[in-house]
Amino acid sequence: MCGIVAYNGIRQTVPILIDSLKRLEYRGYDSAGIAVFNGNAVEVHKDKGRIVDLEKILPAISGTIGIGHTRWATQGRPNKVNAHPHTSGRIAVVHNGIIENYQQLRDWLTKSGYVFISETDTEVLAHLINHYYDNNLTDAVMTALKDIKGSYAVAVICGSELVAARKDSPLVIGIGEGENFVASDIPAILNYTRKVIFLDDLEVASIAQDHVSIFDTHKNAVQKTIHLIDLDIRDAEKSGYEHFMLKEIHEQPRAFHETLAGRISELEGIIKLDGLNLTEDEIKNMSRINMIACGTSFNAGLLGKYLFEQSTYTHIDVEIASEFRYAHSSPGSLVIVISQSGETADTLAALREAKSSGCMTLAITNVMGSTITREVDSVVYTRSGPEIGVAATKTFISQLCVLYLLSLYFGKVQGKINSDRMKRMLASLKQIPAQMTRILNNKELIKNYAQKFASSNDFFFIGRTFNYPIALEGALKLKEISYIHAEGYPAGELKHGPLALITKDVPVIAIATKGATYDKMVNNVKEVKARDAYVLAIADEKDNEIEKYVDAVIRVPATEEMFSPMLSTVVVQLISYYIAKARNCPIDQPRNLAKSVTVE
Ligand code: F6R
Repeated sequence: MCGIVAYNGIRQTVPILIDSLKRLEYRGYDSAGIAVFNGNAVEVHKDKGRIVDLEKILPAISGTIGIGHTRWATQGRPNKVNAHPHTSGRIAVVHNGIIENYQQLRDWLTKSGYVFISETDTEVLAHLINHYYDNNLTDAVMTALKDIKGSYAVAVICGSELVAARKDSPLVIGIGEGENFVASDIPAILNYTRKVIFLDDLEVASIAQDHVSIFDTHKNAVQKTIHLIDLDIRDAEKSGYEHFMLKEIHEQPRAFHETLAGRISELEGIIKLDGLNLTEDEIKNMSRINMIACGTSFNAGLLGKYLFEQSTYTHIDVEIASEFRYAHSSPGSLVIVISQSGETADTLAALREAKSSGCMTLAITNVMGSTITREVDSVVYTRSGPEIGVAATKTFISQLCVLYLLSLYFGKVQGKINSDRMKRMLASLKQIPAQMTRILNNKELIKNYAQKFASSNDFFFIGRTFNYPIALEGALKLKEISYIHAEGYPAGELKHGPLALITKDVPVIAIATKGATYDKMVNNVKEVKARDAYVLAIADEKDNEIEKYVDAVIRVPATEEMFSPMLSTVVVQLISYYIAKARNCPIDQPRNLAKSVTVE
């Protein structure tokens, strides 16, 4: 989704803006632009297309204050006029979010004599700030934002002044020596500073070269904490891999290990979850749990449902965030929101709905300081490190890891898992990173199968119980990055209609690891084979039966039935990756998908 960067300092701003914008490319965008104060006036350069294209058209500009933007079109087509920054008089603005009352404001500003040239809502903001400007940019921005309904992260320049503000859209301020930065995502400025201030909703920051002042809506100064960001810049680089996605698939054993680290003792059968602010009594008396998420995080939540039900024998609801907000939530229940970015607008809206109904709330997220983490009662972090590829991979694995820990912990507290079982489960869980590595070492085989399927137009992924969410995730990954139509189905459901679509031209990936539903799964495989489908099974290393029924088998190490989804996940991710690569797709920046979706 859109990205913002801004700089006020002692160095030339253009190379810093361009470098920082490039670090936001992974979020997906269709146009880019910068505005720089050159000592006399604000110069704006922008265009449809990529940042390298923008660089080609940039003249030499001298200036030490500027703003930059990558746009992902929501309101108005992706073209040069609609690209940010937008200007009005001496004001230049970049904006993420949506101004809901833009039409009323546009009508009013037009009557007041302002001329609009773009189709965007952002241009309203530029004119509005200009309208209120009276030699103080901070005041003008504060007054203008009071008229705005909707969400925003903005950076505004006028002469040598830089002002930033946010509501429901992330924005951080980077603190340097004689220079300060603004960015919608930390990786954009990691090259320059590790000290950041997280701006809160409705705060406005005036950013000079050597100091930053932050105000609330009444213009009272707000004291903010400076956080030291402990991220490795190499996490935001490809380190020799062709794509971030492939690198991040390979980082999964480490991400899983990090997410477990310090939280379990398999010898004592103990789980300790930092950030979980629920008492044992609250857990024992919990009547209802809802999991809420979107996309890949929803698939993690669906597996979470099976895990919690297995460990606590309690019914769990799992819902798509954009639907949950219209549903009834009962006070006293626990709502678990899952979001790698911690910024997804649909998930945030559902969380707010749940809070206003009196639910207890818990977030599973990867991004410290993200909006969701600041609004929930408890946060259990996944520790994947930054995920740059737009398609979620290692964050999914870490979400699953947290869901395993939470469900086992709840089961233990509720007296449904005894100490011996807990020790056994934790010992198996600790083996998972090494088992994933074995699959990764076998990736050439997976690549060969994937290449066979690269020209298929339709795909099915099927699985039962714990593997059903992984069938959904496999289909989602394939759709997102290869643009092939793919369906994820509970295998038992095929005979209720979808079998009509199975032909010799539709490959079926059957996740058939050993477990309680294995025999039924084999029957479902026979059903699709009877329709001439090519069936590739994902099966345990020691399963000598499956090859009788399928065309090909990819083996995964044997583990506890409920842990096998993590191993199948690595396989379906690699299948999707290699198919997309064979089709020459832009894997790290797939069309129409953004890394954090901050609009509803
Ligand atoms: C899939 C993908 C999206 C996200 C969804 C939720 O690869 O990236 O489906 O999973 O937009 O995002 P988060 O987890 O940030 O709330």
